[in-house]
Amino acid sequence: MKHPSEHSVIFKGLGAYLPKNKLTNNELAQMVNTSDEWIRTRTGIVTRHIAQTEEKTSDMCTEAARLALKNAGLQPSDIDLIIVATVTSDKIFPSTATIVQKNLGLGPVPAFDLEAACSGFLYAIDVALSMMVRSATYKNVLVIGGEKLSTIVDWTDRSTCVLFGDAAGAAVLSKVNEARVGIIESVLGADGSNAELLHVPTGGIAMPTSNDVNKPFIKMNGKEVFKHAVRVMEKVARDVLSQTGIDIKDIDCVIPHQANQRIIESLVEHLKLSPEKVFINLSKVGNTSAASIPLALFDAIQEGRIKRGNWVLLVAFGAGLTWASTLIKWH
Ligand code: UT7
Repeated sequence: MKHPSEHSVIFKGLGAYLPKNKLTNNELAQMVNTSDEWIRTRTGIVTRHIAQTEEKTSDMCTEAARLALKNAGLQPSDIDLIIVATVTSDKIFPSTATIVQKNLGLGPVPAFDLEAACSGFLYAIDVALSMMVRSATYKNVLVIGGEKLSTIVDWTDRSTCVLFGDAAGAAVLSKVNEARVGIIESVLGADGSNAELLHVPTGGIAMPTSNDVNKPFIKMNGKEVFKHAVRVMEKVARDVLSQTGIDIKDIDCVIPHQANQRIIESLVEHLKLSPEKVFINLSKVGNTSAASIPLALFDAIQEGRIKRGNWVLLVAFGAGLTWASTLIKWH
């Protein structure tokens, strides 16, 4: 257990933000050689949201965070730490977290970005939890996952451009004087030896972009990533459950990373889950990487799928390769 004391860390408020502009499968079929039928049957995605040119990752994160603060009933001055999980930070430096800090008018609290691709939000939750448990300083923490993936998508590559969308999701984590509620356990993992299955090879220090050469675009071996996703998500979910002694049958709601409907269906089959316990919002947002889980969690709460006392299991997988799972007793 991460916090055997009488203290726990709970999700006090959630927020989400989706850009207004939607891109449909039929519109994509006019841009590349694809069809609504192929995209729906191979991925489950119907639409995704695309940010305006001037709308930055920090802007989306700021909006999601404002809503999370409102839903938590807290003021910016109550926040003691801010972490942003993203692979599409506004600038190489400073961090998007510091830009969001300024936008929200937070105090001079620590602010940093964390990069673990689609697992980023759950990595950030684990880091925030560890800091909150270790130090009395951190009572209320903003954890945000936000991405403007449309800027790193190659819009001529049909194997990737149909998959991704822009969004942000945010959570306010708060310490409470109650034992064994909120975040109960978290497991993280990574395998750098498979990094090239899903990456943006250019635009970094190893291969900088110059003029129109080496544009930073997502490159993916979809089939291999798919196989790893199913195997690793099942394993990390089992690991987090076995560390806590909670049976999979006791879980009320599973929120998997929203990458592909077929990956989620395989996970359901391998874990022998009841499909109605698994929350999916992929069809309307696509794969939003670090924003995927907080966005789905926000929607699940809005739809009344999670209630106080429920066991909630979050499971993520992404580039790195990385993976993570978080078990929550909803408060
Ligand atoms: O968030 C991080 C993790 N990312 C993921 O989890 C993604 C994991 N991978 C996937 O979701 C799937 O592999 C994809 C959706 C990307 C692709 O589905 P697939 O069933 O693995 O298709 P494939 O790559 O094996 O391609 C099958 C065929 C190929 O044509 P040929 O070679 O059989 O003639 C592709 O060229 O489908 C073709 N294809 C398309 N056809 C129409 C690939 N993309 C498209 C497309 N429209 N958009």
